[in-house]
Amino acid sequence: MDAVTPLVLEAVRFGYGAEPVLDGVSLRIGAGEGVALLGANGAGKTTLTRLAMALRHPDAGRVVTAGRDTAGRRPEDLADVAGYLFQHPEAQLFARTVRAEVGFGPERLGWRPERVGAAVDHVLGELALEPYAGRHPYDLSGPTRRLVAFAAALVANPQLLILDEPTAGLDRAARARVADVIRRRRAAGVAVLAVTHDLGFAAGVLDRAVVLEGTQVSRDLPLVALLGNHPRFPAPPLLDLARRLGLGGAAPTIQALAPLLTSHPETGTLEA
Ligand SMILES: Nc1ncnc2c1ncn2[C@@H]1O[C@H](COP(=O)(O)OP(=O)(O)OP(=O)(O)O)[C@@H](O)[C@H]1O
Ligand SMILES: [Mg+2]
Repeated sequence: MDAVTPLVLEAVRFGYGAEPVLDGVSLRIGAGEGVALLGANGAGKTTLTRLAMALRHPDAGRVVTAGRDTAGRRPEDLADVAGYLFQHPEAQLFARTVRAEVGFGPERLGWRPERVGAAVDHVLGELALEPYAGRHPYDLSGPTRRLVAFAAALVANPQLLILDEPTAGLDRAARARVADVIRRRRAAGVAVLAVTHDLGFAAGVLDRAVVLEGTQVSRDLPLVALLGNHPRFPAPPLLDLARRLGLGGAAPTIQALAPLLTSHPETGTLEA
């Protein structure tokens, strides 16, 4: 992985018509960072992700994705460095089997068949999608389709993952698998920008919050500093529990909390 900054927006202005949706938006996401992009419906979250993926281009300012200025570039020109999960993944799926769908990106990048096959196997395994490998994406449930689209975003090992509502509609098990994958990728240096309304999920896998409001970035702060300190962003249950027990709460996952709970004077005896 090279040392370029995965995502830079500089004084970006963009509107679909005369009215700007984003105006004066600057943002820098470094390697391994996990950023929750938050904001009300219509705040411009998806629009920001489209700009990052060169699906749209700024009216003013600059967007530089993995060192590439998106000006004059198309989404395909970023396929080796940035993976994108659409908010509505139906728009993203077109192949006749899950295996072909997930392998399409690496094939287009010119990877040799054995390498494509190995990468597809790996990512289908990570998301427990092997049973669906030969199925048509349109025969799958909505949540499974979202996982397939996520697999397609991951398969080429991009240094930047942009995920628009990655857990929407997912059950607990699928949500946990997505969370595990994001944690592993981040530990390997991949930057993650996730649009989400799922604050429990965000608290478990991301650590920075960027809030869009009124065409601008209104807040850019550690996620734990936002959660519970803003009427629109309440602390999710695990973080709330950790705080009530005075356990801090930088990483409020069940896994991180369990050993603390068993040794805590208030809850340690619950184990017996
Ligand atoms: N293709 C488009 N053409 C015209 N206007 C659009 C288009 N896409 C989005 N908009 C408008 O731009 C604004 C921002 O939309 P965007 O989809 O980026 O919001 P969002 O924060 O992702 O919202 P949500 O949480 O509902 O997904 C909204 O007013 C929306 O109606
Ligand atoms: Mg959106």
